[in-house]
Amino acid sequence: MPISAAGRLEREQRVIGKNESAAPAEVFPELTRDVIARMADAESTRLHEIMEIAIRHLHAIVREANLTQGEWSQAIDFLTRAGKMCSDNRQEFILLSDILGISMLVDAVDNVAGPGISDSTVLGPFYAGPQRELAQGESILLRGEASEPLEMSGRITDPEGKPIAGALIEVWQTAPNQLYDVQDTDQPQGHLRASFRSDGAGAYRFRTIIPVSYPIPDDGPAGQLLKAMGRHPFRPAHVHFMISAPGFRTLVTHLFFEGDEFLGSDAVFGVKPSLIVRPELRGGINTVEHDFGLARETHAGSTRPPGFVAANNKRPSG
Ligand SMILES: [Fe+2]
Repeated sequence: MPISAAGRLEREQRVIGKNESAAPAEVFPELTRDVIARMADAESTRLHEIMEIAIRHLHAIVREANLTQGEWSQAIDFLTRAGKMCSDNRQEFILLSDILGISMLVDAVDNVAGPGISDSTVLGPFYAGPQRELAQGESILLRGEASEPLEMSGRITDPEGKPIAGALIEVWQTAPNQLYDVQDTDQPQGHLRASFRSDGAGAYRFRTIIPVSYPIPDDGPAGQLLKAMGRHPFRPAHVHFMISAPGFRTLVTHLFFEGDEFLGSDAVFGVKPSLIVRPELRGGINTVEHDFGLARETHAGSTRPPGFVAANNKRPSG
């Protein structure tokens, strides 16, 4: 929210009142040192490392912003409301992470990139856990929709371009009413989401409809924050992909569609140029052919990112 000149002057006077000569960055440095020092018995060095960084940066925010008691109360109230908004079918903290660019930053830091490896992007809050597996070429629709049919196909390959057979390809997208099945009890459960296996040549193929751009759920604290920041809630149309195979890192990504009005202002910053496709008419059907390259898993353990199977979204019960 904008700060008036009078408000700014009041803050400056208040800070000077607290500490005549100190710039905000120097207020109470021993407190930060003390909070960090008391973690000497932390359960793990990694926890210690992350918490030390978090404490330093959180304290820096308070100093740099000259935070008032009222503003901090407002922040606590905001987080409380975000927590209360969460349920089996609503994850407000993923939305917050997404709209603040944190999800994409974690993705950038944690994912490997390189030749032959496809770009990743956010998981988003609408992955609903394991979904029905269909045969090559089948449709992911469970009811008819008045939308342009779309056929998607391509190959799953290793970084050298060799086919990966038996990869699990999970796809999901919105219905024409801008809602996923997990948001909309009128849709059959599992509508517009399904899984496929790549064949011996690494190929996949399925039928769907052209997706639509949609607003992220903006009726809660994340939406209020977006509005307060002067931003819109829309995401450009996309189809979600999660592709996993033993020995490879799970690829979480989307394919976006050329010409979408929101490609340059995705509410969650998920667009990467390599993920924008242009359907071609083949035999009268919109067709997208896109290959995905998976990175090799370089450390032991699950090839699926943690927490994915514990679905962050279940169908609304009412
Ligand atoms: Fe989505």
